[in-house]
Amino acid sequence: MIYTSGGPFRFLWPVGRQQMREKARRAVLLPSGSMKECLRVAVAAVAALGIIYLLYQYLATPRAYTVVRPPVLHVLREEYNVWPPFIGRLPHTQEWYTNECFDGRTSEDLVEIFGSLIPTWAESPHPECQEAYSRFQELYEVHQRVSGPLEMPNSFAEKVQGWLGGDEMFREKVDKQMIIHIFHPLMSEHTVYNPVRAQRPMPDTGQNIFEWVSERAAKTKASCDFCRFNTQTAADKFGRHETKDTVRISNTFKMEAHHSMVVPSHVHHPLHLPRDLLVHLFEDATQWFFDVGQQEPHFIYPNLAWDTLFHAGASQIHPHIHMMLAPDHYYGSMEGLRTAAQVYYRTTGRNYFSSLVTIHDTLGLTVEYGDAVALSSLGGKGDLEVVFLCDYPSRDFFSLIYFTVQAYHDTFSQPCKSLAGAWPALGTSRNASVGRLPAIARMVSRGDCASLRADFSTFEIFQAVYRPHTPWQVAAAIRKAIEKYDK
Ligand SMILES: *[C@@H]1O[C@H](CO)[C@@H](O)[C@H](O)[C@H]1NC(C)=O
Ligand SMILES: [Zn+2]
Repeated sequence: MIYTSGGPFRFLWPVGRQQMREKARRAVLLPSGSMKECLRVAVAAVAALGIIYLLYQYLATPRAYTVVRPPVLHVLREEYNVWPPFIGRLPHTQEWYTNECFDGRTSEDLVEIFGSLIPTWAESPHPECQEAYSRFQELYEVHQRVSGPLEMPNSFAEKVQGWLGGDEMFREKVDKQMIIHIFHPLMSEHTVYNPVRAQRPMPDTGQNIFEWVSERAAKTKASCDFCRFNTQTAADKFGRHETKDTVRISNTFKMEAHHSMVVPSHVHHPLHLPRDLLVHLFEDATQWFFDVGQQEPHFIYPNLAWDTLFHAGASQIHPHIHMMLAPDHYYGSMEGLRTAAQVYYRTTGRNYFSSLVTIHDTLGLTVEYGDAVALSSLGGKGDLEVVFLCDYPSRDFFSLIYFTVQAYHDTFSQPCKSLAGAWPALGTSRNASVGRLPAIARMVSRGDCASLRADFSTFEIFQAVYRPHTPWQVAAAIRKAIEKYDK
């Protein structure tokens, strides 16, 4: 085979474009004649360009006054409408769904859930189950793929058997891996589950991760700026606002015109956040948005960020929640959610967030606490992802975040986590009522805290998120944490 400049893979794509380019190149690079010929051509070309330039000047100048610039943003960004209100209440118990939508069957096994339970749901005669199923189909694509047999030398086969807990059937498992892809088209989020891959070995450091965190906390306390906030941090015009256990400090190097943080005033350890303290931190963050909004009424979109530990990107061990108030819209993927919800409203007339709740509720992936609900997300951006929703940021909403943090610690031994929040737009203006987000927070696990290896690779940044834990495990862990800590 003769390879052209496109390399071997060029043959896999239509070559039309390449050929066009080739032709154009040849047309320009004419074989050179004598020197005189060249000079004549050059003089003629310069003269022609001069005439074109003069003509352009003559024609373009008077027109400049009549040109109307197109409103670019309005072409590319859809106007928001007022959506139907968000409904976060759960109408039925889990038993009801099990009986009505799944023929009385439950399972923890992903292959069974996707291979058998979801097809049962599709056939359910109950109108509510049908309704929920059609919403599920609208919002999620599920693809199942099966891998093929592998050749393995005996020495390696023994190793693999060891990784799979000495399972006698390990060859059957490895040779026929059920890979489940869940794609959420409105957000282009792509999640992959593979129960066999979940058993692959991760390096065991033999270290207790909580002891590791405590060591870090002890080592950094003496030099912590947030522990000495009075002398080592800045304040903005809204002041430090000290409460009995929290304090606001201004970010010195800002992401936004209004960018502050709230930190515990007496707790340095990133995991020593009892429920009341965590609720106070979020309450004071929320109060800051109102304080800024009073003085700057067109800043209406509250954004929050909370990373725990270095592996999650935190720059300080001392717990700190960022608050940023924006004037035009939310940031990044939170605005992406809002855009998705607008598209969903335009095509279905429904509230996107209510539909997310219905789908997750039917699947047994919601946990309700007072007026707030947690969705153990089917898709999303990371392992253990939980989406918290509430009509407004409430004490129950913050408590549910607290319970989920405990679930991360107790069930998954996972102290490293990232949480982003977007609260409803402030005020009652038209801008605040169109495309209204409920109070929303999304939390994901950030991998092995003590490891050098980053949790985000090319996969997660650009392609698909592989999740070792199932959303059913996460929902169960949150329920367990509520039982244990709700006192
Ligand atoms: C409402 O939002 C639009 C688009 O961001 C902006 O141009 C306009 O100034 C806003 N109105 C008010 C009253 O803030
Ligand atoms: Zn500190």
